[in-house]
Amino acid sequence: MSGIICYENVDICYNGSPVIKKVSFSAEKGEILGIAGESGSGKSTLIKAAIGLLGKNGSVTGGKIWYEEKNLLDLNEKELRKICGSEIGMIFQNAGSSFCPIRTVGDQLLEEMKEHRKIKKAEFEDEAAEMLAKFGFQDPKRILKSYPFELSGGMQQRVGVAAAMLLKPKILLADEPTSALDVSIQKQVVEQMKMIREQYGTTILIVTHNIGVIRAMADSMLVLKDGKMEEYGKTQEVLSHPQSDYTKRLLAAIPVLRR
Ligand SMILES: Nc1ncnc2c1ncn2[C@@H]1O[C@H](COP(=O)(O)OP(=O)(O)OP(=O)(O)O)[C@@H](O)[C@H]1O
Ligand SMILES: [Mg+2]
Repeated sequence: MSGIICYENVDICYNGSPVIKKVSFSAEKGEILGIAGESGSGKSTLIKAAIGLLGKNGSVTGGKIWYEEKNLLDLNEKELRKICGSEIGMIFQNAGSSFCPIRTVGDQLLEEMKEHRKIKKAEFEDEAAEMLAKFGFQDPKRILKSYPFELSGGMQQRVGVAAAMLLKPKILLADEPTSALDVSIQKQVVEQMKMIREQYGTTILIVTHNIGVIRAMADSMLVLKDGKMEEYGKTQEVLSHPQSDYTKRLLAAIPVLRR
């Protein structure tokens, strides 16, 4: 298998119990890969493993996760921290709630950026405002001066997506970036992520239980069930000819993103 990111027979356990079993897939530069599956099937676990975020209970017990020529699982904490954020960005499930409530959004983004790049506040503000404007914010400087509670949940989520893009990562890992949002904001976020791919050639792994989101943006998709790959292929093919009964049920049960 080739690609900018490539999972090869990955096994993951929490407290010794297997949660991900022999999962293999890859994504090319600029590819959007959707990861679907019911709650608890291991979607978040799968993408967190790439950047060492399984917590103290979790460990990768088999396989490799290749990023360019490196096996991410071989890197030490310092090497991984250097890649995270700058080369591999992550949008968390409920990105909004990861903001600290008592500091402005701008201060928090600046601090995060400073971990990877030497940058002056004024320079940061210009870059951040430009990125927020790309994400449809008409008054980006005000957003930077706002406290999280002054923004709606949907705005916080969109700021989270923009923030992940500030360092122009090559890969974006997005865990349910749209799920907490109402349908019109969902559509905006989907459009923004497609725009990111067009503009920067970013590879995006997006976890979602919404097949409508996958249909609208993903080139390829995989379906997880109890930590095993149930289906993997080009989105169109999987959606039009699902192989397993599980996928068929999943497709029937899931709301589509309406036009
Ligand atoms: N830190 C942890 N310690 C122990 N078990 C965990 C931990 N995190 C997740 N699990 C377990 O691993 C399995 C997969 O969880 P995961 O969060 O990856 O599922 P998911 O597919 O992302 O679900 P959802 O759609 O609800 O977000 C679940 O059985 C969960 O209980
Ligand atoms: Mg999850």
